[in-house]
Amino acid sequence: MSNNPLTRRKFIHLGTGALAATSAAKVVLQPRVLSASPRPVAPSDTIRFASIGTGIRGCEHLEASLRVPGIECVAVCDLYDSRHIAAAEAVNNPNVAVTRDYRTILDRKDVDSVLIATMDHQHRHIFEDACAAGKDIYCEKPMSHTVEDGFAMVETARRHNRMVAIGSQRVSSVLYAKAKEIYDSGKLGEVFCINAYWDRNSPSGAWVYPIPPDASETTIDWNAFLYNAPKRAYDPVRFFRWRCFTDYGEGLGGDLFVHLLSGIHFVTGTNTPALRAQSTGGLYHFKDGRDFPDLIETFYDYPNFRVTLRCNLNNDGGEFIGFYGTQGTMIIKDATLTYSPQNTRPQPEDYSIFGWPKSLRDQYLKQWHAEHPEPEALNWEVDSEVESYALPHGYSDTVDHQANFYNAVRTRKPVVENEVFGNNTAIGCHLANFAYFNKSIAVWDDSQKKIVKG
Ligand SMILES: NC(=O)c1ccc[n+]([C@@H]2O[C@H](COP(=O)([O-])OP(=O)(O)OC[C@H]3O[C@@H](n4cnc5c(N)ncnc54)[C@H](O)[C@@H]3O)[C@@H](O)[C@H]2O)c1
Repeated sequence: MSNNPLTRRKFIHLGTGALAATSAAKVVLQPRVLSASPRPVAPSDTIRFASIGTGIRGCEHLEASLRVPGIECVAVCDLYDSRHIAAAEAVNNPNVAVTRDYRTILDRKDVDSVLIATMDHQHRHIFEDACAAGKDIYCEKPMSHTVEDGFAMVETARRHNRMVAIGSQRVSSVLYAKAKEIYDSGKLGEVFCINAYWDRNSPSGAWVYPIPPDASETTIDWNAFLYNAPKRAYDPVRFFRWRCFTDYGEGLGGDLFVHLLSGIHFVTGTNTPALRAQSTGGLYHFKDGRDFPDLIETFYDYPNFRVTLRCNLNNDGGEFIGFYGTQGTMIIKDATLTYSPQNTRPQPEDYSIFGWPKSLRDQYLKQWHAEHPEPEALNWEVDSEVESYALPHGYSDTVDHQANFYNAVRTRKPVVENEVFGNNTAIGCHLANFAYFNKSIAVWDDSQKKIVKG
């Protein structure tokens, strides 16, 4: 090939100049919590909240709340007594009011809003009671345990005119705000294909959490935990590893897909459920009696693009979303965002004419260059650059998500991830599980507001 003039390199050179996609320095983004509350909040404007559910996520929230201006935790509620202590420690207040019964919190007139961080099958009834009691609600993701729950919650929030935020905090992340800015700028061209995954490879990543030594039927209100789930004898595995069981959670769909879908819906400005889904996967390693697979892959059809999601609990791949456009590619990988432009300037054909005789190649190239004259020296466009962004050390999108919610409580302007948004992404995880368990295509029937077999 050394004498062949038609090398790819040569053609790039012969064309309108190489698109030198040079790499820019990484830009470190700044937290948004500062802009969520630009002025110091007057004591009279302080929002008093209570956490219902103070397990892993509830305690994370309580700690994060100490960094959000203008709010105060006045009570905590959990069915397991040691979590009252953990919550008081997290909020740095040994005197915070504690209870096992969330209704005593809803009765308090000094509680403006509640944070619902319970197992998923408990979200709906606490949410509906909180709406009826006039509280604004930050409810953890996935919003619903079933499709029916989600629509009932949307209707209840509307009827009681409540401010609601659902807890996929990436929607408030400055990294995702930058991703949305790039997407909306049109620099990606048209995006028909989005791939995302979230892989982890550890017992903790697969929810095999240790059982605390003091757990018992005395320290835990087991019947209140079951609520409307099938009655069964006390089983601490079910209480602490509830994500593994269909009675209380939605497996990888509810735990991780919903975060990926929320990020995708936010960036693309989507606020409808996917049209349909197909799933595959299996339980390969964590064969501990759980209901859900440890590997699931789902293919979603949306009106204007297609999404592929994967969660694999048998590899340490981390968190990834790729937006593949006709003019560029945008990748979110853990705490970094990269935008890479593509060379979309016209180029002469450089492949299929290998099979042409030289005289025809020359003729083609001559004509092509006549039809695509190179610009005058001063009219060359500046080459696009790779853009790279990162989150600062210690950044918490949970703090920003809380700050956005409390700002909405003050201003009465809804957040992006309100109950409708949260319902649509939760439907995405229900579609994935329906397709997996039924071994069929799951179709969203919008007229009936239910999932049917395709
Ligand atoms: N946004 C995120 O990144 C994120 C992370 C983890 C969990 N979550 C979500 O947060 C929720 C809780 O998850 P977790 O990991 O903290 O679970 P967890 O098991 O650690 O804690 C749940 C707690 O809720 C309590 N609870 C259940 N029903 C209750 C009731 N009726 N009244 C009072 N307390 C009740 C339980 O006693 C338990 O301590 C889930 O919906 C989960 O999907 C979100």
